[in-house]
Amino acid sequence: MAVSYKDLGFVNTREMFKKAMAGKYAVPAYNFNNMEQLQAIINGCGKSGSPVIIQVSKGARNYANQTLLRYMAEGAVRMAKDLGYDIPITLHLDHGDSYETCVSCIETGFSSVMIDGSHLPYDENVELTAKVVEYAHKYDVTVEGELGVLAGIEDDVVAAKSIYTQPEEVDDFVKKTGVDSLAISIGTSHGAFKFKPEQCTKNDKGVLVPPELRFDILEGIEKMIPGFPIVLHGSSSVLPKYVNIINEYGGKLEAAVGIPEEQLRKAAKLAVCKINIDSDGRLVMTGLIRKVLADKPAEFDPRKYLGPAREELMNMIMDKNKNVLGSANNA
Ligand code: G3H
Ligand code: 13P
Ligand code: ZN
Repeated sequence: MAVSYKDLGFVNTREMFKKAMAGKYAVPAYNFNNMEQLQAIINGCGKSGSPVIIQVSKGARNYANQTLLRYMAEGAVRMAKDLGYDIPITLHLDHGDSYETCVSCIETGFSSVMIDGSHLPYDENVELTAKVVEYAHKYDVTVEGELGVLAGIEDDVVAAKSIYTQPEEVDDFVKKTGVDSLAISIGTSHGAFKFKPEQCTKNDKGVLVPPELRFDILEGIEKMIPGFPIVLHGSSSVLPKYVNIINEYGGKLEAAVGIPEEQLRKAAKLAVCKINIDSDGRLVMTGLIRKVLADKPAEFDPRKYLGPAREELMNMIMDKNKNVLGSANNA
């Protein structure tokens, strides 16, 4: 039987984005597929007083089982309440790949869905997105669409280069589809290897500095659809601190480069209302698990290595909310 997100304690993104736009910050969207990540997200956002979007990808649904994830998310709302965190929580489908997947998520309590038709020809993207919006809005579920293609792997589609969003298309897309927010392509990409070393310069400490995001395109988009909520995917910063821990304790991540935090801060002050972060959390957990296992080779209780990883992930999330996205104390 279908269940409404409202009965589970989630909210859609409408009010969140309105406040974020007015307050010139971005709401964090953190991916989860296991209990420790979800605990770290809720505790990190609860302690920093930040609204939060917890998001589930197709890969997460395959890995953890979609029913289990939905009940975990419901449990997270209850946990937040028990712990006295008064923060709005959205349960969002990340990179929805079909109308049917979006419907299935809405029927099982998601308060927001993304329909990612960015790899389709423009008219087909419009048609698919509009169909999802028509269904979702009957249940007051908000919808994120996407225009432009991020470099790297997105929704099983591999693009060698970004296809930047064209500002001339956004007004038409938003009007024809009725979407509530729009993901754009201005130079971010998914994963821990966002730029090739040859695309970067080196600073005086030998650290690779990537090219700047296309703020000119973001500003062009903002001019076409003023006040409309924009979403940035692929926005992990790939923090050298955690890449170094991974490499120090037996890992091998070479030339991992992300989006500098100052650029995300700048985007959050413009029209960007939602910033997606997944890889940074993966790096934190991997680094800490590697460190604990190397320091204590006889340890075999998962709580003893997942616990410190969870703690560090929570700290990283609090730092992001406060110093990068600006969402702390804006619940
Ligand atoms: O956008 C992609 C997210 O980082 C989710 O990644 O498909 O490996 O779960 P995933
Ligand atoms: P990162 O890989 O940069 O964390 O991006 C995550 C994302 O966009 C999820 O949709
Ligand atoms: Zn994404």
